[in-house]
Amino acid sequence: MRRPSNHLVTLAFISIFSLFIFILYLLSSYKQLSDYSLISSYLVNNITASTDTPPLSIFIGIITLPDSDRRRNFLRALYHTQISRQLPSTVVVDINFVFCNLNKPEQHVFVSLEIAMYGDIIILNCTEDMNSGKTYTYFSSLPHILHRRYDYVMKADDDTYLRLPKLASSLENLSRWDLYYGYLIPCERENPSDRGTYMSGMGLAISWDLVEWISESEIPRMNKVGPEDKMIGEWFNKGNKAKNRVSEKPGMYNFPGSDVEKCAHELIPETVAVHRVKKLEQWRDVLLYFNVTVGIVKPSKLIHSIDPSFMSE
Ligand SMILES: *[C@@H]1O[C@H](CO)[C@@H](O)[C@H](O)[C@H]1NC(C)=O
Ligand SMILES: *[C@@H]1O[C@H](CO)[C@@H](O)[C@H](O)[C@H]1NC(C)=O
Ligand SMILES: *[C@@H]1O[C@H](CO)[C@@H](O)[C@H](O)[C@H]1NC(C)=O
Ligand SMILES: *[C@@H]1O[C@H](CO)[C@@H](O)[C@H](O)[C@H]1NC(C)=O
Repeated sequence: MRRPSNHLVTLAFISIFSLFIFILYLLSSYKQLSDYSLISSYLVNNITASTDTPPLSIFIGIITLPDSDRRRNFLRALYHTQISRQLPSTVVVDINFVFCNLNKPEQHVFVSLEIAMYGDIIILNCTEDMNSGKTYTYFSSLPHILHRRYDYVMKADDDTYLRLPKLASSLENLSRWDLYYGYLIPCERENPSDRGTYMSGMGLAISWDLVEWISESEIPRMNKVGPEDKMIGEWFNKGNKAKNRVSEKPGMYNFPGSDVEKCAHELIPETVAVHRVKKLEQWRDVLLYFNVTVGIVKPSKLIHSIDPSFMSE
């Protein structure tokens, strides 16, 4: 009685083992063909059939301060509607809020609650002084602290409104390698290969190889301190990096009428990012212009009064 069943177990073991080896083989040959992020996006996204649109993964760190929890909650709601309703399934966008070491006892209490609830906060080992190397710490830490790699890593301000679907389509056909993307400073410049130009901190993206370069190279490590966004441009110039530089104009700009006038213009449908949205009225104008809240609320007995255009069945 025992012998045949032992035999069966051995057979089953051999077949499972062979299948396992075969899958390993498939994975390793895929790895050689394409880069790792491609596979991991496929796994994350469960994509089986749609091979026509290339997958795209973006990690966005929104640079903010521990006490700005109200802004964080607003941005969570804003980006949640975009990610859940508007992004194609081939696109992965992960957003985290980034700040330096906490320095008040009560921040430990409130920020712990937020971390437990949302799990979308990164606390870096740095101090919150201006120009003291926060950007360097951000990019150089990511390869060690993220659980996966992304095609692009972005750094954005908490007074920037990003339109994720537009950002994704703006990035989709660009190089996944050696790319430095954003809004070119000085404002009136158009050519990113001009000397002395760099990308604004409103929202700049770099490809993963450059994130790794920043974490490994001596050049950024020796030049951490200074006007942060300008320093990034200087690192790449010194290291002869970022051969692919793309300035997203007019898709990125400052809110109309904001203090840096030269970089501002009216809201336009092709917008990727609007910067310097600070006051509530400015956020309201942006959300209304882009129809962000049209049809997002389900009518309910609980809701007696809300603008009908915000509701849909
Ligand atoms: C991915 O596939 C698994 C197994 O088929 C399924 O349970 C899961 O819901 C899928 N996830 C998404 C986001 O489609
Ligand atoms: C944090 O940064 C400080 C200053 O650079 C350094 O001395 C310390 O070792 C760092 N701590 C950890 C845990 O990495
Ligand atoms: C990217 O390339 C695809 C295929 O060539 C094209 O269909 C799509 O319109 C392009 N996207 C943009 C934003 O140019
Ligand atoms: C917002 O919706 C209105 C009315 O449907 C439309 O005319 C307008 O083009 C939309 N705005 C944008 C930026 O898509």
